[in-house]
Amino acid sequence: MKKIEDYIRTIVDFPHEGIMFRDVTTLFADPRGFRMAIDLMLHPYAGIEIDKVVGLEARGFILGGAIAHQLSVGFVPIRKKGKLPGAVISESYTLEYGEAIVEIHDDAIQEGEKILVVDDLLATGGTAEAGIKLVERLGGKIVSTSFIIDLPELGGRKKLEAMGKEVNVLCA
Ligand code: PRP
Ligand code: ADE
Repeated sequence: MKKIEDYIRTIVDFPHEGIMFRDVTTLFADPRGFRMAIDLMLHPYAGIEIDKVVGLEARGFILGGAIAHQLSVGFVPIRKKGKLPGAVISESYTLEYGEAIVEIHDDAIQEGEKILVVDDLLATGGTAEAGIKLVERLGGKIVSTSFIIDLPELGGRKKLEAMGKEVNVLCA
């Protein structure tokens, strides 16, 4: 049987020279691959209380939407600066190939809600760290974080674990 990593391709020098870009669109496009990824990502959360799934733009929306649907909970997007229409709070961060600002609607999470953060890939952890900070500034409690891929040499997992957060990944 094919493994998750068999569905993911690597694009060399995207978006900049020297970056080996892990492209999950080939996983998402395959019916078995996509279902397997969602099922495996859900697995650690059987019997765990989760109030909302927070997805990180952009591929975290695809995964997070499917996971929220399966858990019968709401989905909250964390978007790049300037995309959300309502009042927002913001965090800036650095990632493997640049800097960015992410935002969340300031009324998207209620005090004490239990949150699962979802994205496709963990590299430096900058994006996930910024997302976690936004959730916690609104009073949310991070239950766990879930990714398809970890790039361990970039230290993201260590960064999130040093913040006391659980990290689940399907492949490294
Ligand atoms: C990629 C990936 C993660 C982030 C991981 O998104 O989908 O969100 O990088 O990198 P980090 O752990 O070093 O922060 P990207 O910033 O390329 O944005 P996109 O999903 O909007 O294309
Ligand atoms: N985000 C940061 N580094 C990445 C990589 N190598 N592939 C895909 N997304 C990324």
